[in-house]
Order: sequence, then C-alpha cells, then structure tokens
Amino acid sequence: MSFKKIVALSVFISFLFNCKSEEYRAEIPQIIPIPSTQTINKGYFVLDDNVGISYDDTFKISGDFLRHFIENGSEIKLKNNNDIQFIKDETINNKEGYTLDIQPYQISIRTNTDQGAFYAVQTLRQLLPKEFENNSTSEEKISIQCMTITDEPQFKYRGMHLDVGRHMFSVDFIKKYIDALAMLKMNTFHWHLTEDQGWRIEIKKYPKLQELAAFRNETLIGHYSDQPHQFDGKRYGGFYTQEEVKDIVTYAQSRHVTVIPEIELPGHAQAAISAYPDLGCTGEQVDVATKWGVFEHIYCSKDETFNFLEDVLDEVITLFPSEYIHIGGDEAPKTKWKTCKQCQNRIKSEGLKDEHELQNYFITRIETYLNAKGKQIIGWDEILEGGLAPNATVMSWRGTKGAVEAAKQKHNVVMTPTSHCYFDYYQSTNADEPTAIGGFLPLEKVYSFNPIPEELTEDEVQYVLGAQGNIWTEYMPTQEHVEYMAFPRMLAMSEVVWSKSDNKDYTNFTQRVEHFNKRLDALSINYANHLYEISGELVSKNNTTSYQLSTTIQDKHIRFTLDGSEPNLASELYTQAIPINTSQTIKAAVFNSEKRLGAVFSETINYHKGVGKTITINKTPHKSYSGSGPQGLINGISGSDSRYGDKEWLGFWGEDIEITIDLGEKIDVYTIDMRFYNGEGQWIYAPKYVNVIYDDLEERKIILNKRNELQHDVKINNQNKQRKSVLTRYIKIKVPNYGTIPDGKQGAGNKAWTFIDEIIIN
Ligand code: ACM
Ligand code: ZN
Repeated sequence: MSFKKIVALSVFISFLFNCKSEEYRAEIPQIIPIPSTQTINKGYFVLDDNVGISYDDTFKISGDFLRHFIENGSEIKLKNNNDIQFIKDETINNKEGYTLDIQPYQISIRTNTDQGAFYAVQTLRQLLPKEFENNSTSEEKISIQCMTITDEPQFKYRGMHLDVGRHMFSVDFIKKYIDALAMLKMNTFHWHLTEDQGWRIEIKKYPKLQELAAFRNETLIGHYSDQPHQFDGKRYGGFYTQEEVKDIVTYAQSRHVTVIPEIELPGHAQAAISAYPDLGCTGEQVDVATKWGVFEHIYCSKDETFNFLEDVLDEVITLFPSEYIHIGGDEAPKTKWKTCKQCQNRIKSEGLKDEHELQNYFITRIETYLNAKGKQIIGWDEILEGGLAPNATVMSWRGTKGAVEAAKQKHNVVMTPTSHCYFDYYQSTNADEPTAIGGFLPLEKVYSFNPIPEELTEDEVQYVLGAQGNIWTEYMPTQEHVEYMAFPRMLAMSEVVWSKSDNKDYTNFTQRVEHFNKRLDALSINYANHLYEISGELVSKNNTTSYQLSTTIQDKHIRFTLDGSEPNLASELYTQAIPINTSQTIKAAVFNSEKRLGAVFSETINYHKGVGKTITINKTPHKSYSGSGPQGLINGISGSDSRYGDKEWLGFWGEDIEITIDLGEKIDVYTIDMRFYNGEGQWIYAPKYVNVIYDDLEERKIILNKRNELQHDVKINNQNKQRKSVLTRYIKIKVPNYGTIPDGKQGAGNKAWTFIDEIIIN
C-alpha cells in the first residue's frame, strides 16, 4: 500500500470515528451544469504528491488537461500510476457521457471517448479548490469528497457565439472565452468573422480585405437611437491572421471545442464591398460601416461574386476542420437586387419568381460548392425564405418559427431565439447597467429556456441539435464588457443544453452560481452579479392591494423603506407584503447580517383609478413577452425605459389587439396615459393610431405621428368645451398593429411588434 493510500485510509478511519454517533452528512457538490446523477459516498480521496495518474493516447487531451490543471494550479506533482485512472467503457452509449467515481483510494473516469473523459475532468475540476484556477493555494493536500457521478449531455450542439466584426478582441481573449465554454461542457464556438463594420479573417488571395475591409474610419458613440448620431473620429479595426486562426482552432481542439466560422452572405457584406466595389450590384464605392444596423449593399448575384466567395471559402475551409461553415443569410435587404440588371437577368435565366428565390439560389449555390468540399452549411433562419437549400441546418433566431418550419422539412436546427439566447440584451432593470442594444433577458429567463419548440412532434424533435447563446458586440467595446454580458448567462445556457430538465431548479441554480462566482473571480472573469437583486409585484386580492418583494437567494433577507431613503441594516425587515392604498415609493435591498449585498431596488407605484381593476385583452401576448400578464398593464408600475422585455411590457407580434378595462362602476375618467415602445432595430413599432371607446358609446381615434423616440407616449385627455371628464365603467382601447416593416429598415417585410406598458387612468 502506498503512503498516499495509508493517508487516505487514516483520513477515512478518522472520518468514520468522528462521525460515529452522528448521521452522515455531506454537501451535494455545486457543479454547473448540474450532472445527471450524483451520489455522495463516505470518505475522501486525498490528493497530494503521492498520487499518480495514468492514461493512454485514447485519453490524451483529457489526461493532459487534468495533469496540467493540478500541476499548474498547485504545488502537487503527479506520479505515473493509476490512482487517477481513465477507463474506456464501450457500454456508455453517449460519446460525451461519463462516470466519475471517487473512492478513498482511487478516482476512476469511465467513458467511451476522450470527449466524455474531458467532461469528467471538468466535473472533477469543479470539485477541486477554486485556488487551483490561478495557482493561489498553499495547500499540499486536498481532500475530495467521495462520490459517484454519472452524466451525459441532453443536446449534442452546445454553443456560444461571438461577433468580432463590430468589435474585435485579442487572440488571448478568444482563448479565454473558449476555455470558459469548455469548462461549462459546451462544445461549439461560433465565430462571427465578417460584418458590415469590419472583415476580420485574413484571406491571402484578396489583400484589400486586410488593407481596407478590416478598418472603419470611426465608430458610433452612444446608442443608435440617440439622435443626432455622433462618432468618435477614431479609425478602428484589425483582423486575425491565418496563423492566429490556426492557433485558435488548435487550442479549441485541445478542449474539444469545434470552431464554426461565419462568413456572412449575401448580406452584412458592406466591408467586403468597400474593398472590392464590384462585388456589389452598383459598383459604387462605399465605406466600411461606422454605425450599426442593416445595410443595402449586399453581394450581387453575378458570377464574379461567386468566384470571390468560392475563393474565400477555399481558404476558410483549409483553416477550420469543422463539419459546418456558417454562411449567415440573415438581414439581406433586396433593394439593390431589385434594380440590378445582372440580378434581374439571373432571376429570369434561373426561372426564379422573385428576389427571395434569388436569395435561395444564392445560398443553394454556395451550399453545393461547400458540400462538394465535404462541408455542410448552417445559416440564420432567413435561409428558409424562398425555399431551403437541400442540406442546410437552420439557426433559428427570430423566435422559434424558423426551427419548427425547418424541422418539419426534416432539416437540422440550432435554437438561438432572441427571447432567450441574445446576451446582448439587458440582464437587469437597474438604471446603472451599461448601455445595451435593448430588450431584457435576465438570468432566470435564459435558465427557463427549453430548446425543443412545443409545436414539434416526437419524431421531429430529433432535428433539434441544441442551442447557443449569442454575443453581438455593437455595445461591447472591451473584453471585460463581453464577459459582463456573457456571465452568468453562459452558465444558465450550459445547463439548458447539458442538464436533464428534471434536475433543473432555478433557486438551486442561483446558489450554485453564488458559489461558482468565486471560481470566476479566480479566473479573472468579469461577470455580472445580479443574484442579490429584488423583484417586486403588485398583488390585488379581495379589493386590497399590496406589494410583494422577493429575491432568489434564500439564506439572505430583505430590508425596505417607504420614505425614499436608502435601506440600511437598521431599516425595516421585510416579512410580508406591503399594503398599498396610495402612490408610494418602495426602496429595498438584500442584506446578510453584516452588510447590503446587491443594488438598491426602487419602485414607484403610481396608484391610479385602474389599479386592481379587471382587464382583458382579446389576444394572448407572445409567449416570450407575456410579462406579468394583462393585469400588469394596470398595476401602477411602468416598464423600464430602455428594456422592453421587462415584465411590465407586453409584446404582440403582428396582431391587432383590443384591451378592455372594467372599472367596476361608472366613474369620472379625466385622462388616460399609455405608452408604446418604438425600437426599430428590434422590429418594434408604435401603432399609427389607437381607438378609445367608453361604455360602447363614444369612439375616439388618436393618431400617433411622432415616432422617433424609444418610447411613444400617448395622452388621451377627456376635457373639452362641453365637459371635464367622461363617466364610464368600461374603457376599450383598440391598438392596430403597425403593419409590415418598411423597406430599408431592419426586418423589412416582416410583421412589426407592438409593445405596450402601463395604462394610467386618472
Ligand atoms: C441576427 O441577429 N441578425 C442573426
Ligand atoms: Zn446585382
């Protein structure tokens, strides 16, 4: 028996001795993503200089990773024996599955592949002290709780995306990002390499892509909706050399991460067209874009453009061993094609119906080229327009409709709907959040995501490969900012794609995130921490109204004030809902016994005549933007200004809606204030007018004509020469959808969204 085993045995015996009269209790480990099964066993494995590790070439990546993790993270040097052993087990069907068995004398990893072993190692890593992450431990002996974990992923595609077109990040940062994916058992890095605002991959045959397309003259400052637009006046850009790309791909391989490059076509091509104007329809000289949005200068469908794209793809496929090449396909306005002689000739010569079928021709021609080279294409869900290329995989981003359509056509899909997967959206309603594109996607909503659309039959479910979180970087100029937006939402996404839904529990997850944050600190990852935030809800029951506060972390408490002051340790402890019978400002925060932990929550309740009354809407809000339901429109609380997806905003897609409020009895109504969101970049448009009807008698049409603001306020004033108010019990408000998004705007040709928040009745 080795010295190490004697130590382990004595630790085990003293453990038994110490526990003799006590019930055995061991903490369930706090692993993210949560494994399929975890059984705690008695005893500890002691990791120190006496421990050895053995693995053959089958497990080279995972064995090397573990050895380096232990040896670089601590003073421990491993011997060569099988205290930690890797066993090939062909009975484990899922090639990414594993069993990790920690016994007092041995750690055994059973798996069919190195990938499975790699994920066992990532689990073991999370059982080791966080100090191993940055070699800050002085311990020479680590006790690891004995346990048995069996585990396998739910989905085979588990991805994170990064846009390096809008902003670019160092090779070291890309590796750090890949490291984080791998730690969370994600296996795909979708690298968005070309954009209107910059071309970021070296293509040797086309040097102007490096000289010109990789640089823009300046960059928009502030939010796109801030008018007038202002620019920083600074040249910005760069690109990854092919050597750097190879280095990153090799690095990712050593973590079982596949890198899928995205070369956007036919849209988001303005940078390439600025370098080679003949790639566009008009041949005119355009600049690399300096602001965000969708641009009309897309690739022309003439043969010369295909020659260019094929040359580019030839170089790309030599750099990326991945089965897939992402060819974009999204947001390609057809304006230039409509007036281009060559594109119109192409439509005629190919017998196509219109420009949408020309888009299909474009994608299919590229698919045929890539298929012949042994590659498959993946594209954003617009590739469904005008017919789907025969072998394409669809990345569903505009909701889940594209996925459903594609799966019904027996095409593979990857789920990345904006509602649950766009990590460029705000994650908190705090006013001091850094500027984001818009929207609202808190951690809990990511966590709640089910990648399987409910419309699919049992047979169609097989086409859902998995899901992915997206990081579009218009508003993320630095790597710290990317990390802030990616974490902790990436943790939630890892559990969405890896863990069994039966094992998912949000409260339990947040406790594990609290623990995991310390590991992220050790890794110098700049995560956002909204764990100690409070949410509030106005509740009306039996003619009384009260305000409930809650927080997800359970072992902390809430203190609040009603006088506008900041809550502190002496403020009133929240134990039950706060009664509300007048307008009120509530401030609250989460505390432990020593200090305040999170930001101060502040809610102003505007107690108006509609609060607590009855409201019905003839259409159900879209399931991704159903907020706190229709009642949220008369709960005294307005939605936040820039976050249309918070629970006070209700979203309807392309539908005319009719809202009816029953005030219970006839009362004087002087004014009605309502508000619509107006975020064109997110396809959200205030209606052109609304109609208001009182007790089915009087109908008024209110025209909304000023529509460049983020929120569009509507005031209905019932005062006129004859009267000061309207006596009514019922208020009906008809809100027609804006209609089809006009040409030249983002999402042109699609239905517009309507977003509405509080209806204030006075
Ligand atoms: C996308 O967000 N345009 C795919
Ligand atoms: Zn053309």
